[in-house]
Amino acid sequence: MSALATVRAAEGLSDYLEAVEERLGAVVRAHPGVVASVSSDALAAGGKRLRPTLTFLSSAGGEPPVVEGAAVELVHMATLVHDDIVDGAHLRRGRAAAWTAHGAEAAKAAGDHLFAAAFATLAAAGSHERVSVLADASLELARGEALQRLQRHDPDTSVEAYLERCTLKTGSLFAAACVLGGGRPEFGRLLGVAFQIVDDVLDCSGETVETGKIPGTDLRDGTPTLPLLLAAREDDTVRRALAGGSLEGALVRVAATGALERSREMALDYARRARESLNGTVRREELEALADAVVDRNR
Ligand code: IPE
Ligand code: IPE
Ligand code: MG
Ligand code: MG
Repeated sequence: MSALATVRAAEGLSDYLEAVEERLGAVVRAHPGVVASVSSDALAAGGKRLRPTLTFLSSAGGEPPVVEGAAVELVHMATLVHDDIVDGAHLRRGRAAAWTAHGAEAAKAAGDHLFAAAFATLAAAGSHERVSVLADASLELARGEALQRLQRHDPDTSVEAYLERCTLKTGSLFAAACVLGGGRPEFGRLLGVAFQIVDDVLDCSGETVETGKIPGTDLRDGTPTLPLLLAAREDDTVRRALAGGSLEGALVRVAATGALERSREMALDYARRARESLNGTVRREELEALADAVVDRNR
């Protein structure tokens, strides 16, 4: 059985994800209007629902953490709606990005609404502590996106600074997804970094039919990701492109330097560390499979 099949076969997961989906639909439909229609589109476009999956797999049985999974996914959706404006990305989940379809103003408002809805959903369930876990993660996420702006067009960004950014912008929400399920943050944080590195590799080499995104977005936007940084150390064309110069032929050169394979190695190492951080969890096998699936993916 493939890693992904092992994850999907987790007992109770598909019922759980269905319940999360229902909750998300209810939240988005609560206040009809432009914002609701932007959010409904974002919801209908699907996505891997990886963060709620993590919330479920981190729970130890008992009442499934539906509200928590929905809240985490709402924060994720909010960040994607905003992120595509910031990154100038026109395609998301195989469809026009929210700002492309509805305009940047509507997309900003919808993203804000989704953020607020995430906290309202969680707060209604009545745990101050859980609200604070999600709030802290959202703050880190925002810091990560701000750090990315600072690092823009800088081919001398260190690998360390890149990893710090990944930990903030992606690891934080993965960690919160674990904690909100009842697990520990470490697995999620490490897994999130592995996940982001793979996303950054897919940005260089992925296929739109699979990723639902347009390859080369990071290079075009001057975002110094790991594969681009490693390649820029060896190739002047890539270095100049990352610094804001001509993009002509640069993406092909990235692959030629072997930077994609070296980045993948680092993702594998983070996934391994994530697996090693697991102990005493109920769904260890599925979480380990999830760590494998995160690195071995094309979408
Ligand atoms: C995309 O996340 C944003 C990153 C952190 C790289 P996902 O790849 O989980 O997005 P969806 O939800 O499946 O579309
Ligand atoms: C992840 O980074 C975005 C957030 C964590 C908000 P990316 O900018 O690489 O994500 P994609 O590629 O647009 O999905
Ligand atoms: Mg982006
Ligand atoms: Mg990306």
